[in-house]
Formats: sequence, structure tokens, C-alpha cells
Amino acid sequence: MKQETFTLITGASTGFGRSLALECARRGQNLVLVSLPCKELFFLAGFIRKNYAVTVFCFEKDLSVEKNCIELHEQIKRTGIAINILINNAGIGGTDYFEEKELSFYRRQLQVNVMAPTFITYLFLDDLKKNGPFFYSEHEQPNRFFLFT
Ligand SMILES: NC(=O)c1ccc[n+]([C@@H]2O[C@H](COP(=O)([O-])OP(=O)(O)OC[C@H]3O[C@@H](n4cnc5c(N)ncnc54)[C@H](OP(=O)(O)O)[C@@H]3O)[C@@H](O)[C@H]2O)c1
Repeated sequence: MKQETFTLITGASTGFGRSLALECARRGQNLVLVSLPCKELFFLAGFIRKNYAVTVFCFEKDLSVEKNCIELHEQIKRTGIAINILINNAGIGGTDYFEEKELSFYRRQLQVNVMAPTFITYLFLDDLKKNGPFFYSEHEQPNRFFLFT
């Protein structure tokens, strides 16, 4: 029997991540939803379970912390979840002038927007290759992955 696969979406509690989760559920994709600890993630998971015939797991993780990215990967592997699509959506934006923010803000922003997607993509690469769809242009070799952030 073919193993069920899951789409992993980071930053799924609000905004684009939430919309992507709903769209993936509409397309029949099982989901692993990740965000900071918050009740919205569980409301969303409940709504999706009620309205779509898909399985949903939630993980509350602060992805600005490297060890949490590793923990996320370990917990998903331990649960036996096979990831076939990764959407690195979690991120911190901002509309303030550069000098208005503390350096600590930019450190956290870089950790969430740059380091976390890099780690998570690296950690799940074997699963994505194994369970893919994989995407490549006609000029590229199959099985090459692109890191979109
Ligand atoms: N909206 C725009 O115009 C725009 C433009 C360019 C790029 N983007 C990028 O597109 C992505 C989504 O944008 P959006 O407007 O939908 O953002 P959003 O509404 O602020 O949602 C961001 C998501 O990322 C999660 N997140 C933030 N910090 C996190 C952390 N440390 N660990 C885990 N999850 C974290 C949030 O979780 P919580 O809700 O739990 O905090 C939330 O689910 C972001 O990466 C953003 O930078 C957005």
C-alpha cells in the first residue's frame, strides 16, 4: 500500500500560510501545520478536519531557534509522517525604517526568514526526494531542489 504523504507548511496560523493550508486541504493534501504557540493554529486544524477529508498535524515551534527546527524534523520522523511538499512560509516582515528597529529584531528576522528555511529544507531534503513531486526546468537535472524564501 502506498504511504500517505503530507505537505509541511510553516507559519500556517495566519496570512498566506493559512490561505495556503486551506488551498492544499481543498486539493486533498494531508497537512503538517507549524507556527509559534497560538490557538489559531488549532482552530484552523479543527476547521480543516471538519470540512476536508484530510489528516492534519500541528506543531508549535519557534523556528528562530535552530534546535527547534531539528526537533520539528525529529518529531515528524518519529510520528512516521512522510513529507512530500515543503512550503517555507513562516517569516517576519516589517515596514519600519531600518534605524527604528533594534539589532535583536534583525537577528530574529534573519533566523526566521533565512536560517530556518535553510535548515528545514536541508533536514527534509531526503524525504522530499523520496516522496516528491520534484520541480525542475527543462534546462536542469531532475531531482534538483529550489529554495524559495
Ligand atoms: N504580506 C506581504 O505583503 C509579504 C510580502 C513579501 C513577503 N512576505 C512573506 O510571506 C510570508 C507570509 O507573509 P504573511 O503576510 O502571511 O505573514 P504573517 O501574517 O505575519 O504570518 C507569518 C506567519 O509566520 C509565523 N511565524 C513568525 N515568526 C515565527 C517563528 N519564529 N516561528 C514559527 N513561526 C513563525 C507566524 O506565526 P504566529 O502567527 O504564531 O506568530 C505566522 O503564522 C512571510 O515569510 C513574509 O515575510 C509577505
